[in-house]
Amino acid sequence: MHLTREEEKMLEGERGWANQVSMKILVRLGELYGATRLIPVQSAHLSGVSYKHMGDASIDFLTALAEEGGKAQTLSTLNPSSFDPIYLTKRYHGERLEKQSLIIDLYTRMGINPTLTCTPYYLRKPKRGQHLGWAESSAVIYANSVLGAWTNREGSPSALAAALIGKTPDHGVHQAANRQPNVLVKVETSLKNEAEYGALGIHLGKMLKDKVPAFKGLQNPSDDDMKQLGAGMASSGMTALFYHKARREKEKMETISIENKDIKEAVSGLCTTAAASDLVFIGCPHCSLKEVKSVAGLLEGKKVRKGVELWVCASRHVRERAKNYVNIIERAGGHVLCDTCVLVTWIKDLGMQTLLTNSAKTAFYVPALNEVDVVLRPLGQCLETVCRK
Ligand code: F3S
Repeated sequence: MHLTREEEKMLEGERGWANQVSMKILVRLGELYGATRLIPVQSAHLSGVSYKHMGDASIDFLTALAEEGGKAQTLSTLNPSSFDPIYLTKRYHGERLEKQSLIIDLYTRMGINPTLTCTPYYLRKPKRGQHLGWAESSAVIYANSVLGAWTNREGSPSALAAALIGKTPDHGVHQAANRQPNVLVKVETSLKNEAEYGALGIHLGKMLKDKVPAFKGLQNPSDDDMKQLGAGMASSGMTALFYHKARREKEKMETISIENKDIKEAVSGLCTTAAASDLVFIGCPHCSLKEVKSVAGLLEGKKVRKGVELWVCASRHVRERAKNYVNIIERAGGHVLCDTCVLVTWIKDLGMQTLLTNSAKTAFYVPALNEVDVVLRPLGQCLETVCRK
């Protein structure tokens, strides 16, 4: 890789250990993928925040970086943590709270903004063509496909390194040649709701691996539908970019056809039980303002049943802007939680056995990561189930 003189100095340790470690990560990654240089990023988004997933080893590494003067060189944001500041903090024991706070403090000391959301694009929307260094696969695919920004799927270490150096290796979808669609997905049925968009994403992700699909036949998907579609593909596969509308069909392009039975099978394949749920979760990825509004609209004048909890997860930014809707949801007995989600916290320890959600991504991960059963249904059905008049 060609490095500038300043980059070489960092790599040799002349700009401190934190910069040296970060440069080593970026250069190693660049060499692995055949990058010839580093390019500046307009922002970095970091995963590796929840104590549930990170454990103690990460705390030592973050402490060393912070003590050695690691400082973000670009606008940097954080993924969700294991708690919201109000509701869940009361329900777990002290050590988990302390460790989680420490992780967030260490990032904050390094100048990383503790946004604690997987939808940083609602806080500050990247511009088309901007290069980013983002982790969190659902945010990456949304940034590339819906917003037109350019970012690879970074892991926790490489996104942190991108934040501290302000650069990323120039490979993958940072290069125009790698952003061309190479598989056509013909959707020969109409998708009825966000759960079906997400389930289609899970179904396709397994087949597509890291290919770039272009869709034909999607009928005016909303940004929130595409959020679910992308989150699904990025969960079961390595997709980082899709085109919701094929511009033109290239000859001999590999084609995948999707029929109604594929969607039905994908939805039922994501359900592990028919049992009643004790937790209903909306907000994976974190809700948009429009989604919080929809939840509130469906809950107006209703009450969450005894014995069931309703969690609606969103960023602080969206929660703040959605105050009136939040009031309606809370009056109905739901909880609008920020900074967290079910996957990064310990719902089984709260006595939850079965989760009902409208997110295919959650349904895909929750049986393994939370060891609870799951049912996937669209928002309207989730809320009908959780409410009584
Ligand atoms: Fe976000 Fe949690 Fe889903 S981090 S994408 S709400 S699993």
